[in-house]
Amino acid sequence: MSAAAAPVAATPGPSAPIAVFDSGVGGLSVLRAIRDRLPHEPLLYVADSGHAPYGDRDLDFIRERSRAIVAWMVAQGAKEIVVACNTATVVSVATLREAHTVPIVALEPAIKPAAEGSMSHVIGVLATSRTLESPAVARLQQEYGAHTRIVLQPCPGLVEQVEHGELESAVTSALLERYLAAPIAAGADHLVLGCTHYAFLRDRIQALVGPGVTLVDSGDAVARQTERRLPYAGIGGGERFFTTGDLREARARFASLWGSDADVSFLDV
Ligand code: DGL
Repeated sequence: MSAAAAPVAATPGPSAPIAVFDSGVGGLSVLRAIRDRLPHEPLLYVADSGHAPYGDRDLDFIRERSRAIVAWMVAQGAKEIVVACNTATVVSVATLREAHTVPIVALEPAIKPAAEGSMSHVIGVLATSRTLESPAVARLQQEYGAHTRIVLQPCPGLVEQVEHGELESAVTSALLERYLAAPIAAGADHLVLGCTHYAFLRDRIQALVGPGVTLVDSGDAVARQTERRLPYAGIGGGERFFTTGDLREARARFASLWGSDADVSFLDV
């Protein structure tokens, strides 16, 4: 299936969208926070589900995917770009900002608020291996690790579970139990959801760790930053969704994670 995606807006104007992308559907958790904060902005979302997960790919692959998607978004007239993927951010954001003048908002694991809020002085960070091995996380560790023990927990397999809509399955529960064991045993009272896909597992995670552990993600912070960097206001609202993966599967996933009226097209980029 390869229906061509029609341009959204080629020139600046009230219908020019804020364009958001992720390796897959995880960034919809960030899109939701943006929509709540900016109800009148036209939004465009690209799920690179045909190439997810990014977390175990080599750096050049992730950079090339990010480059191609952002170039397409700019060609659509995007007035602001949001990288709703921790992995793509830590690997690609510097290169993307060098290549484009449009404002590019990105996210990194919410280690700062978790460390600042922790009473036990132990926090856990759940993310992809690529994110946890990045210089960005090493810098955050340096900055906030003096008084707080930061337990880094890679979570291979979880992105795939969310991509396939397996939010409640036994496999997902088993993976979560395995990945939560170390931070909880270490005494973490805050857990950073350092991958946008994991926001959709928030309820499962909270049920497993109990009410005494605070879960922190970056959605609201990114939405605030998106508002701050907005070059000009849009009107009308509305969302257009694109996937590089299987369109049938994407429509089912967007319907459950966003809403049954989500309009999803295939994107060949
Ligand atoms: N949602 C992406 C992130 O925040 C998942 C990366 C992946 O595809 O592995 O890192």
